[in-house]
Order: sequence, then structure tokens, then C-alpha cells
Amino acid sequence: MESRVTVRTLIDMKKSGQKIAMMTAYDHPTAQLLDEAGLHVLLVGDSLGMVVQGGSDTVGVTLDHVVYHTRWVSRGATHALVVADLPFLTAHLERVDVLRAAGRLMQEGGAQAVKLEGGTEVAPVVRELVQAGIPVMGHIGLTPQSVHAIGGFRVQGRTVDSASRLLTSAMALEEAGAFAIVLEMMPAEVAEFITERLSIPTIGIGAGPGCDGQVLVFHDMMGFTSGYIPRHNKRYADLADVIRNAARTYVQEVAAGVFPGEPQTVRLRPNERAAWENWCSAQAETEGGK
Ligand code: KIV
Repeated sequence: MESRVTVRTLIDMKKSGQKIAMMTAYDHPTAQLLDEAGLHVLLVGDSLGMVVQGGSDTVGVTLDHVVYHTRWVSRGATHALVVADLPFLTAHLERVDVLRAAGRLMQEGGAQAVKLEGGTEVAPVVRELVQAGIPVMGHIGLTPQSVHAIGGFRVQGRTVDSASRLLTSAMALEEAGAFAIVLEMMPAEVAEFITERLSIPTIGIGAGPGCDGQVLVFHDMMGFTSGYIPRHNKRYADLADVIRNAARTYVQEVAAGVFPGEPQTVRLRPNERAAWENWCSAQAETEGGK
């Protein structure tokens, strides 16, 4: 069996030009399948607030929610690095509370690293977490937890000013000790420019092919969602169709009495049958005598 991917593996992959494949996962069977498929990183993202809980953003996701899902993903992943999201506002709490929150994701959830959204302003928090022995993945560009401040799920870094702020943030996160940075929804030119200037890997989502790796949200890429699908997503399967068709067939078979058939039915063994038939006869006599 291949050994566990570590933060060191990812940095070495960048050095050797090997691309990193990351996906979100929120439960045990999915984590197991993705792990078997060779994913390097499984992210228990707070995107779960949208694709699992059906919310319109990630703001309502709590630390308890992420700990809960991380536990099941960690049980399923024996090879991939499991990274868990610090939810909305967590990085802005008192330092001891940030450490406690990240600690819960690792101790109770079993994650090997945490991810937090934000640039230069969260670099001091990243530094403290790293100093405490907690590997941190940064996340800049479109940071969904700030969707209400940004005014929607918009591409970031279109102007020279905002692109240079993204670069400054990326460098501050690297300098603070982050082991990788997610670059979300920014022009490919900007993401590539940032990637070339960092010695830690960048993982893009809607940030073009020049990043050191890519991440997609499981439900979006597997066609397992009926909500908003971002433009950068690519559908690799149509699970919604598979599930809908299977469920329709089940409804029809139950209605027609086709399910359960003989293979799904438990019957009495011959020795049990004799006793059962005797009991039924006795029961019929009792009922007849009433
Ligand atoms: O929460 C999430 O799934 C994420 C990815 C989109 C990177 O942050």
C-alpha cells in the first residue's frame, strides 16, 4: 500500500512538476472511493453548507459540522492527506480559540491539516497555528466565507491592483508557514504569476491550468447537485441521473409487486417450516373455536 501523502509530499510534488489532485469529501464511503482512486488531498470543505446542507452559502457552517464530517472522511482515507476547513469567522477569534478550533479538527476529526480563508490579514494566525504544529493551507481569491462582503461569487484579481494584492497575500501566507494555498476564481494569468513566485504549491479552482494542482467540489463534478454550477466546474459523471432513474425504477417495482423478488426474500428453512405449519394449524383451531 502506498504511504500517506504529507505536506512534505505536496511540496516535493511542486518541485518535481507533478500535479496535485484534490477533491472535497464529506462522508466515509466517498472518502474511501476517492482515496482508492488516487486523490492526493481530500478537503472537508465548508462547501458542505451548500452541497450537503442545501444552503445558499457557506456562512452557516459551524465548527461542529466540520468536525462531524471530518471524522467520517478521516476513517475512509488511508492514503490522501485530509484537510478540514476552519469555518466562517473562526480565524478572527481570540488566538487561543483559533488554536482550540484547529485542534478539534485534528484531534476529534482526525484531519492532518486545516485550511483557512484570507490573505495578509490572517498571516499572523497562520504563523501561530504553524508554530503550534498545525499544518495550514491558505485560501485566497474568491473566499466564499466573505461572499456577502464581496457582493457575490465573483472572479477576483481582474485589475492590476487587486492582482498585486493577491500576490502580496500569497507571499505573506507562504512566509507565515502555510504549506499550500488554494487560489479560487482568478484569471489564469494571475494564478500562474503567483504560482511561479511561490515555493509552496498552489491548488486552483477556477484559476486556470498554471496552478500546481486542482480542486473541485465532489457534488459539482459528479453531477450530484441541482443548484448553481460554477462555470469552472467540469462534470465527470451524472450521478443525479443515475440516482433519479434507480429511484424511479424502485418506486415502479414496489407498486407492481416486483420488489422484493425471491432473491431478496427470506423463507423458513425446512425444519422451521414443519414447526411453523403445526403452529398455524393450532392457531386456526383456536380461532375457529371462538
Ligand atoms: O469549501 C470548499 O469546498 C473549498 C473549495 C472550493 C476549495 O473551500
